[in-house]
Amino acid sequence: MSRILLLGKGGQLGATLLPHLQTLGTVTALGRDQLELSQSDQIAAVVADYQPEVIINAAAYTAVDRAETEAELAQRVNGDGPGKLAASAAAQGARLLHISTDYVFNGHQGQPWQEGDDTQPLSVYGRTKLAGEQAVRAALPEAHWILRTAWVYGTQGQGNFVKTMVRLGQTRKTLRVVQDQVGSPTWVEDLAAAVVALVRLGDRAPAGTYHYTNSGVASWYDFAIAIFEEARALGLPLAVQTVQPIPTCDYPTPAHRPAYSVLDCQKITALLGHPAPHWRESLRIMLKDYLQTLAKEVGQ
Ligand SMILES: NC(=O)c1ccc[n+]([C@@H]2O[C@H](COP(=O)([O-])OP(=O)(O)OC[C@H]3O[C@@H](n4cnc5c(N)ncnc54)[C@H](OP(=O)(O)O)[C@@H]3O)[C@@H](O)[C@H]2O)c1
Repeated sequence: MSRILLLGKGGQLGATLLPHLQTLGTVTALGRDQLELSQSDQIAAVVADYQPEVIINAAAYTAVDRAETEAELAQRVNGDGPGKLAASAAAQGARLLHISTDYVFNGHQGQPWQEGDDTQPLSVYGRTKLAGEQAVRAALPEAHWILRTAWVYGTQGQGNFVKTMVRLGQTRKTLRVVQDQVGSPTWVEDLAAAVVALVRLGDRAPAGTYHYTNSGVASWYDFAIAIFEEARALGLPLAVQTVQPIPTCDYPTPAHRPAYSVLDCQKITALLGHPAPHWRESLRIMLKDYLQTLAKEVGQ
């Protein structure tokens, strides 16, 4: 049984991970109020206090658009904090599993991104996450796992695309959704299972960078259509009648996002011995659970 320190316990991934990690050992889960990643001078003392064998960093500054105007804070949380965490892990002889993102790539490619492909982030968020990766590799070369993922959704934590579509689909007749950004929607439960599998493998999972998303590819438009089809099939009354595919230029955002975000997941598939579920299958399972929860809330 391992001593595990989990950061970001209230986030989408952190909250999902917590119960699964508890099957692997003794888990200490911290929120921002217990460990503020932007205060990197506090990190070493907190890590030393808990003496973990494995640290999982599911905390990050994830407000992609706001980061464009809060670059310094995003860098402290996503870049400097993880570097300090890795150095603290090295001092304790602990491993660090650090979560990163498809946004380290520029999206100007027509085939899935491999772990070793050149990075070129288009946004402040992407640049700061890349800085975090680099700092983690430098401080803990032999004992890090960097797990890049993309398009994450689940029932826990704050909003995500699925929750937004379910909400809007119940009130709006027409929706416009971007069709020229392509990626792999990833259910946070599947991502959490991959994290647990890596931790369980321990020494048998070589240090380095891995990509993990659900299988298959979709545009945001495809994803929205699938959400509405699955939600209708599950009996959710929806107002939406038309989903209009639009180009990114018709939906301007402060941060630029990669057009082609599909990650090549062969490396982790070989390690785990099975491919990730297809995104549509996972979406169906998530929606069943989420819509039941919503129905209970309405009934209360
Ligand atoms: N969501 C996606 O689509 C996506 C895609 C690719 C990669 N990722 C990566 O996946 C990881 C998990 O993302 P997520 O979707 O679970 O994000 P999330 O729901 O936004 O959760 C982020 C967590 O980080 C915590 N946090 C934020 N600022 C902090 C700070 N200064 N100090 C300490 N903790 C702080 C938050 O705490 P509070 O609850 O107190 O705010 C929250 O618990 C992140 O590394 C993210 O970059 C996410």
